Amino acid sequence: MDKRWILISLAGLFLMALIASCTQATPVAEGELDDVEALIIERCSDCHSADRVFQEDYSEAAWSEVIDEMVEKGAEVNAEEKQAMIDWLVARD
Ligand code: HEC
Repeated sequence: MDKRWILISLAGLFLMALIASCTQATPVAEGELDDVEALIIERCSDCHSADRVFQEDYSEAAWSEVIDEMVEKGAEVNAEEKQAMIDWLVARD
């Protein structure tokens, strides 16, 4: 009986933390762009330089394929990060 309430409160706390982190993770557009550039430098410069990424000018679909290829090679990019990278790379210049 008591255990159930603890579980329910924990679930509630978890949900609240999740909602709080979601609202925090929505910075102004400019800050977001800086973050994505840093993310690309962090995740995409292990095997080749990040310039290798920045110098390419692909379409959205082509970037999606390239990033999938890199993930197969071992890059650590989740679905959300992949989409942010594509948006950023396509929106440059
Ligand atoms: C596990 C190693 C690894 C990581 C991490 C990695 N790559 Fe690559 N990447 C390669 C290899 C290997 C090649 C091909 C060899 C070469 O030409 O240097 C390559 C080539 C490329 C190319 C040029 C070739 C083409 O198909 O146009 C692009 C663009 C590229 N990577 C983008 C990325 C992006 C974006 C990321 C981060 C999401 C990334 N890479 C992370 C291994 C990696």
